[in-house]
Amino acid sequence: MYTVPKLEDYSPEALDRATQELLSALEQESAAITGAKACEDFRNRWMARKNGILTQVNDTWLKAAPGPSKREVGQRVNALKQKVEERVAAVEEQMSGSASEAKLKAETLDITLPGIQRPYGVKHPVLQVLDELIGVFVKMGYSVAEGPEVESDYYNFEALNFPPNHPARDTQDTLFIANQERRPQRDRLLLRTHTSPVQIRSMEQLKPPVRVICPGKVHRNDAPDATHSPVFHQIEGLCVDTNITFADLKGTLEHAMKSLFGNDVKTRFFPSFFPFTEPSADIAISCPFCGGKGCRPCKQSGWIELLGAGMVDPNVFGFVGYDPQKFSGFAFGMGVERLAMMKYEVDDIQQFFSGDMRFLRQFA
Ligand code: DAH
Repeated sequence: MYTVPKLEDYSPEALDRATQELLSALEQESAAITGAKACEDFRNRWMARKNGILTQVNDTWLKAAPGPSKREVGQRVNALKQKVEERVAAVEEQMSGSASEAKLKAETLDITLPGIQRPYGVKHPVLQVLDELIGVFVKMGYSVAEGPEVESDYYNFEALNFPPNHPARDTQDTLFIANQERRPQRDRLLLRTHTSPVQIRSMEQLKPPVRVICPGKVHRNDAPDATHSPVFHQIEGLCVDTNITFADLKGTLEHAMKSLFGNDVKTRFFPSFFPFTEPSADIAISCPFCGGKGCRPCKQSGWIELLGAGMVDPNVFGFVGYDPQKFSGFAFGMGVERLAMMKYEVDDIQQFFSGDMRFLRQFA
């Protein structure tokens, strides 16, 4: 670190040497400055009135100079003073410049960058069909009802006229909640196998006339394949009033199928069996792929079975306290994925659950 030497020799050469030494120290120190603190220290070291290098130069060189040299030393000291002041000012200017530059740099915002585009979300195709169908029934005066996915044996089976141990229960491969052997059978919990229990829950709460549609998730102990999934969706419908006939059922479902698949679609009713309806029917629509000519999806028959339906069994009315002499009604139930497969020509039900964006984007 540079210190101001005492001068023994006041010859011009000696003065030159001393001046040069001081200036090169000034140069070196100023070049090493990095922060605001170092900059302040630099100013004090060289220019502080009390013991700064300039003051020392003044005291040790000028005041101690012999008479004849005073004038020359005075001029040199003045020149040095100017150089030091210039240097300090330059360093300070550079420091404040680079500080604000850094600040500006940190704050820059490139307004020419393209923004982040968030893709719009859309409804899953299964939900699209579900909502479309709900809309069709809401227009006919139906309201929407929901029920629990974990259901009791009573609502899922017994009140729908499946007696305990009746073989009709075997058609619905049921997932039971474990460790309930100590409960009475009707209270045991299971994952609902259909949305039909919501019929019972609705009738318990409402007096006729009743028109409800019940969408929801259902579960069956089925291995997944192209047409089966252990979790899927159903829409249940129920209409109870005085003088409801099979013709009302037929007209309602025909209208719903035409709304969904277009006016050219035909419906066909086959006799069938469900414990909770009598008579019962399976309903097929003319194949939307081939228009009824026969193709692989319809197994060359021209028809595709889509839903179950029937007139509400008087025994079911008995469970909810409706008078079967006074009221009659119809009910129906359908799988939503199956409808969506027909409507969008999807050949594998698993696609709906794969989360594959290439598949899903087609419905955006
Ligand atoms: N719950 C039946 C099933 O899952 C579908 C069904 C058939 C519902 C006939 C009904 C009905 O309401 O009347 O297979």
